[in-house]
Amino acid sequence: MSGETILIVEDNQVLREGIREMLSVEGYHVLCASNGKEALEQMSTFNPDLILSDIAMPEMDGFEFLRQVRSHAEWVTIPFLILTARGEKDDILIGKSLGVEDYLVKPLTRQELLTAVHARLSRAQEIKLAQLHKAYEASLTALANAIDVRDPYTRGHVERVTAYAQVIAEQMGCRDSLIEQIRFGSILHDIGKIVIQDEMLLKPDTLTSSEWEKMRLHPITGAEMIKHIDYLAAAMPIVRHHHERWDGNGYPDGLKGEEIPLGARIVAVADSFDAMSIDRPYRNGRGLEEAYQEILRCSGTQFDPQVVKAFQRAWQQNKIQQIYVSTKTKVPSFDST
Ligand SMILES: [Fe+2]
Ligand SMILES: [Fe+2]
Repeated sequence: MSGETILIVEDNQVLREGIREMLSVEGYHVLCASNGKEALEQMSTFNPDLILSDIAMPEMDGFEFLRQVRSHAEWVTIPFLILTARGEKDDILIGKSLGVEDYLVKPLTRQELLTAVHARLSRAQEIKLAQLHKAYEASLTALANAIDVRDPYTRGHVERVTAYAQVIAEQMGCRDSLIEQIRFGSILHDIGKIVIQDEMLLKPDTLTSSEWEKMRLHPITGAEMIKHIDYLAAAMPIVRHHHERWDGNGYPDGLKGEEIPLGARIVAVADSFDAMSIDRPYRNGRGLEEAYQEILRCSGTQFDPQVVKAFQRAWQQNKIQQIYVSTKTKVPSFDST
């Protein structure tokens, strides 16, 4: 790894230059300061990827510098390594209590320096990716909720479908990358409904046949919406095919059996189960068991029997019911009517 910017804060010029040399040779961009105050001045114009700081320094010592760094939101995640003289256990303890990532004992070898810097930069990179991933998922959920909130009876639908689908996928032993696709696909499965007008989406009566035709376009619309977004491309088949049926009588493409992507077969069960279990507010709680029986009844016709078996196992382990209960408070007027 190279190209990252490392800030060295050390008042001993010989040591500072030695470290700078070792890191520069490895391709790191290195900046130097001789105390905390100087380092903060440098940081007003750039954010380093990692800080390596001495403790005892004039003007502003390493601990005060560390406190200042950690008090700025945009610097909180920068890995901070302290340089300590051999035997100064107190330094290490104080440093750890202030949140240093690692410490290096002076005099340090090239190997020790590079190993620590490399490890901390890799870890910081992993954390950044994980945060980015979370941010993606949160923005997707916000987008999907834009549809959810329009209809009080389906509120929480996306969240529950995602949770049911994940549990089923885990029961089926799906690999992590597929589970992630299924999560994204579940969040977005009805995104195409965004183009459907409120009067139709919220219509209390049965839809007319031309309204149904429009409604049945939502998997295509949704898939079109995300097909050019790289990190969502893998979820696209789930969005497009979540209304296909195992017997080939679904839509939009009439795919049959294993022609239907596995993720879509899983989301189909999760989606239908949720729709059936919350669709009957007047039944006051009986909807859940009835919806479960209906899923079992439709195994081999509407749904993939293997997916239904996995769903059944999750039900027997009480996992489906737990999801339902934990999100129940978010379903308005379910028990009150
Ligand atoms: Fe749908
Ligand atoms: Fe749905």
